[in-house]
Amino acid sequence: MKIKLIADKDYTIGEVSPRLFGSFIEHLGRAVYGGVYEPGHPTADDQGFRQDVLALVKELGVPIVRYPGGNFVSGYHWQDGTGPRSLRPRRQELAWNSIETNEVGIDEFQEWARRAGSEVMMAVNLGTGTAMEARDLVEYCNFPGGTALSDMRRANGFEKPFGIRTWCLGNEMDGPWQMGHRTAEEYGRIACEAAKLMKSADPEIELIACGSSSSSMPTFGEWETTVLKNCYEQVDYLSLHSYYGNRSDNSAEFLACSKDMDQFITDVSAICDAVKATRHSQKTMYLSFDEWNVWFHSNEQDKKVEKWTVAPPLLEDIYTFEDALVAGCLLITLLKHCDRVKIACLAQLVNVIAPIMTETGGRAWAQTIFHPFRDASRFARGTALNCRLDCPTYDGGVYGETPCVEAAAVVSGDELTVLAVNRSLTEDGELDLDLRGFGTPELMEHRQLWHADLKAVNTAEKPENVAPSAGDGRTLRRHSWNVLRYKLK
Ligand code: AHR
Repeated sequence: MKIKLIADKDYTIGEVSPRLFGSFIEHLGRAVYGGVYEPGHPTADDQGFRQDVLALVKELGVPIVRYPGGNFVSGYHWQDGTGPRSLRPRRQELAWNSIETNEVGIDEFQEWARRAGSEVMMAVNLGTGTAMEARDLVEYCNFPGGTALSDMRRANGFEKPFGIRTWCLGNEMDGPWQMGHRTAEEYGRIACEAAKLMKSADPEIELIACGSSSSSMPTFGEWETTVLKNCYEQVDYLSLHSYYGNRSDNSAEFLACSKDMDQFITDVSAICDAVKATRHSQKTMYLSFDEWNVWFHSNEQDKKVEKWTVAPPLLEDIYTFEDALVAGCLLITLLKHCDRVKIACLAQLVNVIAPIMTETGGRAWAQTIFHPFRDASRFARGTALNCRLDCPTYDGGVYGETPCVEAAAVVSGDELTVLAVNRSLTEDGELDLDLRGFGTPELMEHRQLWHADLKAVNTAEKPENVAPSAGDGRTLRRHSWNVLRYKLK
């Protein structure tokens, strides 16, 4: 199969925001307890954070981490997780039917993120919480001192304000499963009022309003329009969420699912621009794709998990090699929309639908999806190019006619990186790269993720079963993820 990719120096999409490589940690299952935090673990540091996990998070390269939920946040009262641990309440956690000990809260997570080299993207409770409670959290985190709430933070050991820049106004408020689920009008109103209060506590913060939980929600479209009509001038981003799964065991179709993400972004951008036009606004609404991933492997086993326990093994998807290819296609799709999508979060980071898995008390390892994410976060920083791709197409089932290859190119200084997934299950591709105006490219590295078995997984015993190796600089093997790095002369 011939694959022609033309990238011209003068045709760009935009700057890739480093925050496109964000992730997410929710108080859910073993993400926090037994994941990032486990005081008795042999690698635990002075604060009880697992250093084996921290090392993998740093290797992955995650500049921003959304916290503390997710569905969890809609029942969370942040003051439960501050102050002396012995006084913190144990509570029934109603999003995931578990027990929350509150051993880890805002303060500990801020410290964990600092150690991981990430900034925190904080979500507030607009389900069962109030706009004032959300405002109070901004004051607690970001006000220097001399008020009751900022002095409470200082008394808790954090003299300097956290300076948390990015805040989510609730989570998936369009979903009937959400505690405090609202209509679009109701949510738009509380988002507007919370935004005003939060920005008066700290005018430097930026805010994300909830868009739809997926493009298949019955309220999709109408929800975005109504919410934005209520809070367009008060917020800075609108969120999108999407999860994919190979439920009918049709790999060719599954590999085409990034077409759905592409259409979702295009549609939400159009809705934002329509609201902008009707308001005669000068402001462009940017997008925060703050939950995306593959999620389906654990659906059945989760039905059997015992309720009301601490840190039960929930949403522990074991990712296959084909899931990594899908993650690669989704990352490329985000890069192709980097002019509009300024924040994205792989949901989630540790144990819960995650690139990093742990044994409580034991080992930590990288799942298959770790590899394309790490490669993109490390090598796809810079300016995304508006490439032209010529390649054969195939029948992507519900996703329609689909190009056999998904690809993007990013330039940074004298380095150019091509990221490509060959979706064909049968044919290798030969890459003909035409880098117009870039001079002579010299190949520095061709990283390739390939396995003969689409269902291959990584485990604690075999953590390198699916891992990158060197390609020949030209061949995009059938069903493979590729990163080709060039020096420009
Ligand atoms: O990431 C898991 C869950 O998926 C989140 O809690 C929720 O926001 C979404 O439905």
